[in-house]
Amino acid sequence: VSEIVGTTVEGLPKPDAPDAITYVDSASETVPGWFDPRDAMLWLAIDELQRDAGVEGDLLEIGVFLGKSAILLGYLARPGEILTVCDLFEDQPATGEVAAEHARFYEGLTRSRFEANYLRFHDDLPTIIQGSSTESLADLKDESFRFVHVDGSHSYDVVRADVATARRLCGPGGIVVFDDVFTGHTPGVCAAVWDAVVHDGLQPLATTNKLYGTWSDQAIDVAALRAALSRHPRLRVQDEHTVAGKPLLEIARSPKAAARHGLLHELTPPGAAKLARKVRARVRERRAPTA
Ligand SMILES: C[S@@+](CC[C@H](N)C(=O)[O-])C[C@H]1O[C@@H](n2cnc3c(N)ncnc32)[C@H](O)[C@@H]1O
Repeated sequence: VSEIVGTTVEGLPKPDAPDAITYVDSASETVPGWFDPRDAMLWLAIDELQRDAGVEGDLLEIGVFLGKSAILLGYLARPGEILTVCDLFEDQPATGEVAAEHARFYEGLTRSRFEANYLRFHDDLPTIIQGSSTESLADLKDESFRFVHVDGSHSYDVVRADVATARRLCGPGGIVVFDDVFTGHTPGVCAAVWDAVVHDGLQPLATTNKLYGTWSDQAIDVAALRAALSRHPRLRVQDEHTVAGKPLLEIARSPKAAARHGLLHELTPPGAAKLARKVRARVRERRAPTA
């Protein structure tokens, strides 16, 4: 991990990443952090499903580190939607569980390093909240978010609070994503998130090493996600499971895709051309000056 942190990217030229797909496909490799391409591709697919279903709302990430996943969220935010990110950055407690986690994984993290990374890809910074997710998100409006990524503390108590925050903030059609729900060194995350599935009405949709779910009746459901993934060039449903009577999809990369190179090359025409056109139009729409 110290190798990751030691890989400074400040000062690198602005990469050629005009859209989300190019970022996922190649440019994200230049940003240190923890964000599996499988999840990046799934975020694009979910974003597309939300768009098709007319779901709108802001985006939130708890735990940005140096911006690897936040930069993708910056591409997904549509005109009028706000991306908010929350991290302790250098404001780490001196002792306790969080301090130990910071010393082990996040040494060298600063807000300015996150900002420098983010600005390599986007003209403007997101709304940045520096502080603990347990104390600094109270002002965010209830039910106004369509996508919440929880990737902050691994402490059981903090994740319990993050679950409650995500539930409060997700609006109609909103999707929440929790990281590290199977990871051996994060039992607190596993306990808090799966407890929400069993006891707190969290409807699971899919898993990678993250859990994708919703509290909304109007969100995309397992059937819609399964249908979308059946057409996906790089993702597939590896298996289907049921937890506490609730179905969910286990998502894997398709073997064909894993063996080949970039997403842009793997999409076959006319699908590739159509997707590229859509994404370019979205970027243009986002950059167009408002009246
Ligand atoms: C695993 S990293 C996030 C990885 C990141 N999403 C990426 O794409 O690489 C976890 C982050 O959560 C932050 N964090 C830890 N505890 C937190 C808390 N209570 N509130 C907000 N952020 C926290 C850490 O400072 C660290 O940057």
